[in-house]
Amino acid sequence: MILPSFLLIFIVFWLVSGKRVCVGESMARMEMFILTAMVFQCFTIAPPPGKSVNLTPDLSGLFFRKAMPNEFVFTVREQ
Ligand code: HEM
Repeated sequence: MILPSFLLIFIVFWLVSGKRVCVGESMARMEMFILTAMVFQCFTIAPPPGKSVNLTPDLSGLFFRKAMPNEFVFTVREQ
């Protein structure tokens, strides 16, 4: 059986083209950056009055250091 050339090209391309990737990755990264920037722009983020941030790492994990849970208050910033 002789395959049409476009089908042959498609099969060769499919075999050699390697791992598939998400074409929207850079757009998704940019969206996350903008969203994070918007949150920091709109709110003042601070610990509750009279409390401080505990930066001591939780070393109980086998491989990873986890951040200690902390309380934060998000206050809407004046525009
Ligand atoms: C957090 C956001 C996103 C995640 C976690 C994500 C994840 C993925 C994953 C896991 C795949 C499959 C890759 C593979 O077949 O191995 C994929 C494919 C794809 N993604 Fe995304 N994606 C995101 C955002 C987007 C956005 C914003 C767009 C478009 C604007 C997009 C368009 C596509 C397309 C068209 C494919 C198919 C690529 C192909 O088949 O060659 N993605 N994505």
